[in-house]
Amino acid sequence: MLVVDGLRKEYGQFTAVDGVSFQLKPGDIMGFIGSNGAGKTTTIKMLATLLEPTLGRATLNDVPLTEGLIDARKLIGYMPDFFGLYEDIRVWEYLELFASIYGVPKTERPGVIDEVLELTDLGFKKDAFAKSLSRGMQQRLCLARCLVHDPDLLLLDEPASGLDPRARAELKELVAELGRMGKIVIVSSHILPELADFCNVVGIIERGQLLAFGSVEEIISGIEQRRMIEVKVLERANEASMFLHGKEGVVSTFLMGASTLKVEFEGSMESQAQLLAEMIQGGFLITEFRVDAADLEDLFMKVTTGALN
Ligand SMILES: Nc1ncnc2c1ncn2[C@@H]1O[C@H](COP(=O)(O)OP(=O)(O)OP(=O)(O)O)[C@@H](O)[C@H]1O
Ligand SMILES: [Mg+2]
Repeated sequence: MLVVDGLRKEYGQFTAVDGVSFQLKPGDIMGFIGSNGAGKTTTIKMLATLLEPTLGRATLNDVPLTEGLIDARKLIGYMPDFFGLYEDIRVWEYLELFASIYGVPKTERPGVIDEVLELTDLGFKKDAFAKSLSRGMQQRLCLARCLVHDPDLLLLDEPASGLDPRARAELKELVAELGRMGKIVIVSSHILPELADFCNVVGIIERGQLLAFGSVEEIISGIEQRRMIEVKVLERANEASMFLHGKEGVVSTFLMGASTLKVEFEGSMESQAQLLAEMIQGGFLITEFRVDAADLEDLFMKVTTGALN
């Protein structure tokens, strides 16, 4: 269990992080969203024991993280937003180095290295020089390095920046796997849709304050009831549009072509699920039914501009 309690960081007169509190349990993957300068990196560095908070504390399984103790570091894998790789070193040597720093027994290191290489899909580069890897591979190597000591908490500061769509998808899969392994993962980004589909928890930070924290669904229904659902059907989009008129939660529908309609919807997640069930019962062949991702971006803008007002 990660307990973050009133973390605050002041730089002179300026407060970069202003009383951030939340809790996560094993298996939780938290998307930590905020625009440039919101306080993500500062918060993550405090959790990583690298920056001393002005006030507040955090504990992981009752071990304090905010007192800079070596014990705490063994529980944490931290992937910084900017990382340097030692270049004249082979991939396996790099991992061996970190495993030894973290006190992994020498006899166990070869097995651990193979395991993290497999997890990050870098086995085929085991003997390559770190500098010969592509950027995306270097990012994965950095993540592999964070895993050698089997930490309980992973702090990934914008791990997806600079990755192509395929590498992003692989990274998502990897992070999801870490969640299934029972680790707590915090992933920062300034793009909410990028995280929404694989995080079970979202925290939105702006000007150092945690403006929203909870599941994506909770945040959507708590802050903005109204959303746009895009529905794709194999045929009869026009009929589907008429079918939806007057259903619970449906504000209006727009036909976007022969097979796509947009539904302006206001209501709970239950009634959203009910709507889909009714369409299927109504005999419509649905190929897609999703809340428009652009809408999540809108939501984020709404939450954050709310803070500025
Ligand atoms: N060492 C420092 N001294 C003074 N101010 C700082 C220092 N480090 C960070 N800040 C300020 O704290 C605020 C939060 O910065 P932080 O790096 O945490 O933001 P971020 O959310 O990670 O942004 P980005 O998306 O750009 O990475 C910014 O206004 C930044 O200028
Ligand atoms: Mg940052």
